[in-house]
Amino acid sequence: MSRPNLQVALDHSDLPSALADVKNVGDIVDILEVGTILLLQAGDEAVKCVRALYPNKKIVADTKCADAGGTVAENVQNAGADWTTVICCATIATMKAAAEKIEEVQVELYGDWTFEQAEKWLEAGISQVIYHQSRDALFAGETWGQKDLTKVQKLIDMGFRVSVTGGLTVETLELFKGMEVYTFITGRGITAAENPKQAATDFLEEIKRIWGE
Ligand code: 5RP
Repeated sequence: MSRPNLQVALDHSDLPSALADVKNVGDIVDILEVGTILLLQAGDEAVKCVRALYPNKKIVADTKCADAGGTVAENVQNAGADWTTVICCATIATMKAAAEKIEEVQVELYGDWTFEQAEKWLEAGISQVIYHQSRDALFAGETWGQKDLTKVQKLIDMGFRVSVTGGLTVETLELFKGMEVYTFITGRGITAAENPKQAATDFLEEIKRIWGE
């Protein structure tokens, strides 16, 4: 079983603080995400800046695109992103249009979605999904539990590369032991830590302890 990737989500409300954090942790993590919040604030300039700092890293532009997939994917690809995200309620046409313009598209799983829809994403050639505990659900008292693990495992068994995200802590990772998670995406667990560099190192070390190097 290969080691899950560690992805940092830059969900800052301004570009300078996002760049300050990414400079601290960019060499530790595997994947850099220009988060939805940052994209809405700073636009594709944020992607361009992160690409300029890390020419060789995988960069995700978390657009959570719902429509105009081809245009949105092309725009962030031109800015330097390798991958982008679409929301699970987008049409297959939107997902396919996005997938034609960028290396890979990931489907963001929020709210209501079904495994029947997921089969259609696979048929459309999309093999990455992001399993979320939404920030607002977590604020409302939701926690990670067996119901999530069951769905994540089913998606893995279907053949998806599954990223997991939403309020992750170093302690949460153990819940997924034995599962072939593709990537753990962490925003505040790293960027809101007193020492983001140490926090990123702690996440990575725990992933290596559980899944091996
Ligand atoms: C929210 C996101 C976040 O980027 C992702 O969930 C990581 O955030 P955090 O670890 O801070 O919860 O996509 O929609």
